[in-house]
Amino acid sequence: MKPVYIDFQEHGDWRGQLVALEENKNIPFAVKRVYFMYDTKEGVVRGKHAHRQLQQILFCVAGACTISLDDGKEKIAVRLEQPYRGLLIGPGIWREMYDFTPGAVLMVLASEYYDESDYIRDYDVFLDSIGEEK
Ligand code: TYD
Repeated sequence: MKPVYIDFQEHGDWRGQLVALEENKNIPFAVKRVYFMYDTKEGVVRGKHAHRQLQQILFCVAGACTISLDDGKEKIAVRLEQPYRGLLIGPGIWREMYDFTPGAVLMVLASEYYDESDYIRDYDVFLDSIGEEK
C-alpha cells in the first residue's frame, strides 16, 4: 500500500505562503464538511476507525503528526508535516493519528456530512468488512 498524497500549489511570495483548495478542482470530490483537531494531548491516539463510503483529505496545517493506514493486509505510517501536502484516504482504510507535535493542527476535508453509521469502530468488524481473516 502506498500513501496517496496531493501536493497543492503554494502561492508564495516575500510575505509567506498560501494554499487554495477548491472542491471538484484540486480537491477530487465535493467538500461537505471540514473539521480540524488541535490541542491534541501528548501520547493520544485518535482515529481508530475506518469508513464505509467517506473520502477525506488530511492536512497537517501546523506542526506534524503521524497517520497510520491499514487496509487489512498491510499497515503503513506516514508523517504529515508540510501544510501544502494532503493525504487522501478513501473508504476501507483503518486509520490512526498520533505523535502530534505541540500546537499541531490536523485539518480534514470530507466528502460527506458527519454520519456515525458510516464509521467502523471495531477492528474485527473492519476486517470482516473487507473479507479478511484476522
Ligand atoms: P471522534 O470520531 O472520536 O474523532 P477522531 O476520529 O479524531 O478520533 O470524534 C470526536 C467527537 O466529535 C465525537 O463526539 C463525534 C464528534 N464529531 C462531530 O460531531 N462531527 C464530525 O465531523 C467529527 C469528525 C466528529
